[in-house]
Amino acid sequence: MLDYDTEAALYDETRGGVPRAEAAAQAVLALVPDSARTLLDIACGTGIVTARMHRPGLRVLGADAAYGMARKAAERVPGAVVLGDVRRLPFANASLDAVSAVWLLHLVPEAQAVVAEAARVLRPGGVFVTTVDKDAGHDVGSDIDAVLAPYLTTAAFDRADRIEAYGAAHGLLPAGGTHFAGDSQGRSPRRTALALLDGQYVSRLTARGAEAEALAEQLMALPGPDVARPDPSFRLIALSRGLSPAE
Ligand SMILES: C[S@@+](CC[C@H](N)C(=O)[O-])C[C@H]1O[C@@H](n2cnc3c(N)ncnc32)[C@H](O)[C@@H]1O
Repeated sequence: MLDYDTEAALYDETRGGVPRAEAAAQAVLALVPDSARTLLDIACGTGIVTARMHRPGLRVLGADAAYGMARKAAERVPGAVVLGDVRRLPFANASLDAVSAVWLLHLVPEAQAVVAEAARVLRPGGVFVTTVDKDAGHDVGSDIDAVLAPYLTTAAFDRADRIEAYGAAHGLLPAGGTHFAGDSQGRSPRRTALALLDGQYVSRLTARGAEAEALAEQLMALPGPDVARPDPSFRLIALSRGLSPAE
């Protein structure tokens, strides 16, 4: 995983800025019931999305483990951000109406522990909204996708069927979904090649070592190596904590 403490300074401008954040926030809110009074945005990062999740009557909180990111989030959402690991949230059982996770689960091999923790803090009827299949959001049928296709794995930590299975194991049932646009997030061949060589596709591609280098060369040989391909579209799903017979 990237060092998000150092990444904090560059994060907003390199991840689609306000348009991406606004689109993500609105997409999350579309899956949060109107009756919700509390929403915890886990792995809130710089808070650029969290701060845009406003709706009358909804108190929005954030949590992140990286000090540099959480400090920026605390400036955007004062008094509402906690520094901490999303696998051990400092919230009581069944104390929140909604939990969101934007661009988190693709990063964490322990995605099941994150889903379990979200389920723990949700009230019966509460909803967990999360991005899934994040890297696949870039598959827009471009020439880059054609080059990468033979090397794709099915091992992504945030694969939708996997996250739904984790949810089911912790009492969370599918409750809809939507997409949001990754404004200015379209990849160019050069950006993809550099990310590949930087190890950013290890959970997505089988190519390693010399094979990864050869693949990077193939990408760089595509026409327009600095021309971004179409913007990606990112998928969000909602999982709802069902009422047990006693509740
Ligand atoms: C790609 S950023 C997404 C930030 C924000 N949700 C957004 O969409 O702008 C991933 C964030 O996850 C945080 N993170 C990763 N693992 C974490 C963990 N176990 N506990 C808390 N935060 C974590 C990182 O510090 C980083 O801020």
